[in-house]
Amino acid sequence: KKRIFSGVQPSGKLTLGNYLGAIRNFGMLQDEYECLYCVVDLHAITVRQNPADLRRQTLEVLAQYLACGLDPQKSTLFIQSHVPAHAELAWVLNCYSMFGELSRMTQFKDKSAKHADNVNAGLFDYPVLMAADILLYQTDMVPVGVDQLQHIELTRNIAQRFNGIYSDTFVMPEPYIPKTGAKIMSLQDPTRKMSKSDENANGFILLMDKPEDIMRKFKRAVTDSDASIRMDWENKPGVSNMLQIYALATGQTVEQAQEAFAGKGYAEFKPAVGEAVVELLRPIREKTEDLLKNKDYLEQVYTEGAQRASYMARKTLDKVYRKVGFIKR
Ligand code: AMP
Ligand code: TRP
Repeated sequence: KKRIFSGVQPSGKLTLGNYLGAIRNFGMLQDEYECLYCVVDLHAITVRQNPADLRRQTLEVLAQYLACGLDPQKSTLFIQSHVPAHAELAWVLNCYSMFGELSRMTQFKDKSAKHADNVNAGLFDYPVLMAADILLYQTDMVPVGVDQLQHIELTRNIAQRFNGIYSDTFVMPEPYIPKTGAKIMSLQDPTRKMSKSDENANGFILLMDKPEDIMRKFKRAVTDSDASIRMDWENKPGVSNMLQIYALATGQTVEQAQEAFAGKGYAEFKPAVGEAVVELLRPIREKTEDLLKNKDYLEQVYTEGAQRASYMARKTLDKVYRKVGFIKR
């Protein structure tokens, strides 16, 4: 079986973008592949976090993985800091990653502009830790939204460099980007991706948002002066984004969604998208709430997950340590 790895940061609440761009696909890959899905808490602390919030959000992301259909019998679900090999491999890979290539990462440039008071070394090194996550498990495919494509390219470059020096050590991973949903845009500024760190809370939909909040945010969503409802990312990004969301939420193609609203106005369109999202998220929210009441179960899931992951990770790390010339302990 081919292997899949992906991760989500517990740096805040998950959005509809995280779900449609990533987590939804995690579930669909479970039967065909051997999957590992991680809550990447080591990555989250590259931006200052409140410790109590981080603990809560880490459990919440795990609960949401389960609520979105990830099955701990099929997939390995775990917390990154529970498997020390991630940090250990990251150190080694640091020595095969170049200052120049890390300086070109757009996420680093964006985040260091945004958190100018805390441009720490971890933030710069973030993509190397991500490369370690992926390469530790000899991953074939990495399901992510388009914003992570550059990090996967870097991972491939690091792997290739290491393999070139020491002979084949790492499997070369491929990105897996969904055809629709790879980039869900903000409802307030549809030229920017929907992000949980948006200052304007009307721009994003959280998986835990209540139905009335979802409806309100869609009713206030930015459109444009031309009232027709059609796909046109260039001139009508707001409408195109909502058509894409509607299609994904109802299981239609964007063409079908476009047809369904032909000749209709925004007054009908926006609440219809809202309703579709309310129904999409309702079972996820309810299941997450239930799971968060059962901390013992969550603990069992992440404990078993970490055991399985540690075993796989150790094999790669041992091989890497041997190749670079460390004495066996
Ligand atoms: P993060 O919340 O940054 O850890 O992202 C977790 C996953 O969600 C990654 O695979 C991202 O590419 C994906 N993602 C985040 N925001 C969006 C978005 N607006 N549209 C599509 N995918 C997204
Ligand atoms: N950097 C990813 C994001 O912000 C999260 C992540 C960390 C990840 N490690 C990973 C995604 C490994 C895929 C594979 O979305």
